[in-house]
Amino acid sequence: MNTPATQVNRLAAGMVGLGMIFDETYRPFFEAVRRRPLYDPAFGICHVDLAAVASRTGRRADAYRSAGTLGDFQSFKEPDAMGQLLKSRKLNFVCVATPDNRHFEAAKAVLEAGKHLLVEKPSVLSLAELDELDRLARQNGVLAKVVYHKLLDPDHKKLRTLVYDGQLKHVNNGYCTLLEPKLISGEQFSEWIRGRNPGTYVAVHYIKLIDFTFGGRLVQVSCTGQRGIVGPADGDTWDSTQLRLIYRYDSGREACFDIHTSWVTPNNFPGYVEQEVQFRFDNGVWNGHSRKRGVECTIEDQTPLKTKISINNHYNGSFVEPWGERSQRGYGIEVIERFAREVAQVEFGGPAEERAQRLEAVRNLHYNDISADRQVVAAVHAMEAILARHAAGQPGAVVDIDAPEGGLVLRLPGVAEPEVLYSGRVNAQ
Ligand SMILES: NC(=O)c1ccc[n+]([C@@H]2O[C@H](COP(=O)([O-])OP(=O)(O)OC[C@H]3O[C@@H](n4cnc5c(N)ncnc54)[C@H](O)[C@@H]3O)[C@@H](O)[C@H]2O)c1
Repeated sequence: MNTPATQVNRLAAGMVGLGMIFDETYRPFFEAVRRRPLYDPAFGICHVDLAAVASRTGRRADAYRSAGTLGDFQSFKEPDAMGQLLKSRKLNFVCVATPDNRHFEAAKAVLEAGKHLLVEKPSVLSLAELDELDRLARQNGVLAKVVYHKLLDPDHKKLRTLVYDGQLKHVNNGYCTLLEPKLISGEQFSEWIRGRNPGTYVAVHYIKLIDFTFGGRLVQVSCTGQRGIVGPADGDTWDSTQLRLIYRYDSGREACFDIHTSWVTPNNFPGYVEQEVQFRFDNGVWNGHSRKRGVECTIEDQTPLKTKISINNHYNGSFVEPWGERSQRGYGIEVIERFAREVAQVEFGGPAEERAQRLEAVRNLHYNDISADRQVVAAVHAMEAILARHAAGQPGAVVDIDAPEGGLVLRLPGVAEPEVLYSGRVNAQ
């Protein structure tokens, strides 16, 4: 029998949604792994094939197949693209990159079919949905993981390392901002933008960063926002949002974080996707700025519209390597490879009778496991409810987490009776 170090294994992958993020991160991952399979002494060589894709129209799938760099995959389109994908070939894992409010249905179908799941952020929009996915993953003995690539950004890894090692002591407060250009709300997402907000779409990156880096218990969420560019000034589609989170730590001390997001920044703004954070500690300050950390490159007739002025080469860059090879790499792609390695570890990383222990060990990786996404989903769930009340003419709600009345309790100014959005607890007592 082969030892793990020399065995050759194969994982078949499915993909749901072939939009912008597929092209930026999944496509380069699947292309690279076709050229060079994964290897680890624990599981040997592991080929990963993109076996089947599901999308609304199938048009992009046809274009990718003609390009030939992704191999021979099956393509399914609506109606019932998901159903056909899950019946098609023996898939080991399925990645879900549909619009934010369409993750749950696809993710649930994947887990019900007994496949490992990788779902884009935000995992789901409510705690009841999260509970259901976690239950299905456990019942069917598979992984349910979420893509939070900002945790793999070297700058954020350094921040967490300094906190983890106790060099930065007790965070008191901070702000994060992420500004997307109008192209995103006006063109890229025009099919699904109605009733949506940029907070759920991008603040969630920073909710996770704060939650994972600093730990603590989320105790309160509030949020406001502006309308009138993407949709009517009194409608339910938001141009920008300002979210506030309050956390409490075991020491009894609190911290407050403000996260500002927009998807209506002018397209020619040099930052393109402008990102900035500042965290203030008892003994230090951390400042991060997407433009200040890196490169600004102007090319006549190219920037800023055809190519970006600020290039985040850490996230995702196309390079000619010093040894002559062309590559596309960065933490946005690394996070997907990492998931494929985790699946390979569960399936091939030792004897079959020890699969359950390997599954449990990989589940305990809190950076991406759905079971560790509770506070992030609680914040998203609360933000969605607060903005919905605001759009319905009742602004200014706050949501308390694990209050006496329930796990998520929405309180409106001047209204005595609170509304329980989720009755179970967000965190164990
Ligand atoms: N990790 C990141 O930084 C990052 C960046 C961008 C987007 N995202 C996330 O990825 C997801 C997709 O975003 P995007 O930018 O690729 O969006 P997009 O609009 O460009 O693409 C969405 C894709 O989903 C497909 N789709 C829509 N409804 C479907 C359905 N019911 N069944 C099957 N396919 C369906 C569409 O055909 C399209 O291919 C979102 O959840 C978004 O938040 C993550």
